[in-house]
Amino acid sequence: MPLGMSQISRPPLVGRKPLRKKERQKGMATSWKFALKHDHNFFIKPELESPILTKKTKKKMDVEKVFHMTGGVGKTSYAKNSSLQKKASDKVKHIIIETVEELYIETTPKSIGIADLGCSSGPNTLSIIKDIFQTIQVTSHKIMHHSTEFRVYFNDLPTNDFNSIFKALPEFQKLLNQDRKNGFPSIFMGGYPGSFYGRLFPNSYLHFVHSSHCLHWLSRVPPTIYDEQKRSLNKGCVYICDKSPEVVSQAYYKQFQEDFSLFLRSRSEELVVGGKMVLTFLGRRGPEHVDRGNSFFWEILTRSFTILVSQGEIEQEKLDSYDVHFYAPSREEIEDEVMKAGSLKLERLEMFDIDKKEQGRESYGTDVAKAVRAIQESMVSNHFGEKILDSLFENYAMLVDEEIAKEDINPITFVLVLRKI
Ligand SMILES: C[S@@+](CC[C@H](N)C(=O)[O-])C[C@H]1O[C@@H](n2cnc3c(N)ncnc32)[C@H](O)[C@@H]1O
Repeated sequence: MPLGMSQISRPPLVGRKPLRKKERQKGMATSWKFALKHDHNFFIKPELESPILTKKTKKKMDVEKVFHMTGGVGKTSYAKNSSLQKKASDKVKHIIIETVEELYIETTPKSIGIADLGCSSGPNTLSIIKDIFQTIQVTSHKIMHHSTEFRVYFNDLPTNDFNSIFKALPEFQKLLNQDRKNGFPSIFMGGYPGSFYGRLFPNSYLHFVHSSHCLHWLSRVPPTIYDEQKRSLNKGCVYICDKSPEVVSQAYYKQFQEDFSLFLRSRSEELVVGGKMVLTFLGRRGPEHVDRGNSFFWEILTRSFTILVSQGEIEQEKLDSYDVHFYAPSREEIEDEVMKAGSLKLERLEMFDIDKKEQGRESYGTDVAKAVRAIQESMVSNHFGEKILDSLFENYAMLVDEEIAKEDINPITFVLVLRKI
């Protein structure tokens, strides 16, 4: 059941989509077709997980249970340390606005469904919804078509700090109400916990899907980077690096293909025809897996851990078994998966980087270290314990500043616009 929404009795089950063999083996999300009767803000979420779990699925489940941005509004929270992501979102804001405008004109919905996938918590979460709402208001006046309902679904993994979003909703609702013309549309908002690597919503339910800085996170660390004794084949690196054997980069790529194709197929069923998605996530410039723009930040994390190994703070073995569930795809790899999905048209695919000029009061390294800490803290403390966090990210800030002084390094971000055909 979505958080923050009341549950009504389970609607009649009119058909169950049989699992395909491969999906069954993976214990993957399945969709149940409900004769879904919803009355304003009452929703029932489709069944997500098959009870059939394999060894591989257990690994995947672990990552999704542990991984979360640091919640709340404290010094180390994601809410206080997500300005780098905001900068990137601001760069693509015009694309989001144009896309919402076009889809509204094409679909003229009575009830418009919007989902923010991987919403996290903090100022970025609501700011994009406000922009979308305002765009719809302006467009609906322009074309003299008024939707009666504006539905917003905030999705993230169940461990996300949904409470912070819910606490901010009454004020946010007031803010949106100031823009409402003639009392329309009615606004309904709620949390939708679960992995976006699988079905989340009923068929043809959404008009617009937004996801920012999420799809570079895989559903799990690729299981084939471990040997039979569960030892990592990627010793000495936390992500694909110069030293990584080919099998490691191939394993990461395969996991990306599996995850991204499942994401696209799931969203394609949930979007109405003509519905659109704007997806922003990190990637790499070309076919080489190791490129300074994206692997640099993981290389620095490895070096920060190595300092702690040399100081006896952590064991080498512990570091050798730490790998991240991240993948930075290339343009071609993204295009291939969209093409294979078939039911989505890639309307736009742009690459951009973020300049480092307007940084906060501290050094660029400190800003990056705080951002990476807010993202990685849950995983690092689960593996190594919380004790090392302060020293680890002090090392990280120092190393980033050192490297940036020698060479200008900018992470690469992709923005995609997809249309359901
Ligand atoms: C860096 S945050 C981005 C938050 C926000 N969209 C922004 O741009 O600031 C990435 C978010 O993606 C979420 N996430 C990662 N994998 C996910 C999955 N499989 N399903 C749902 N959310 C996921 C994380 O929990 C996290 O909140």
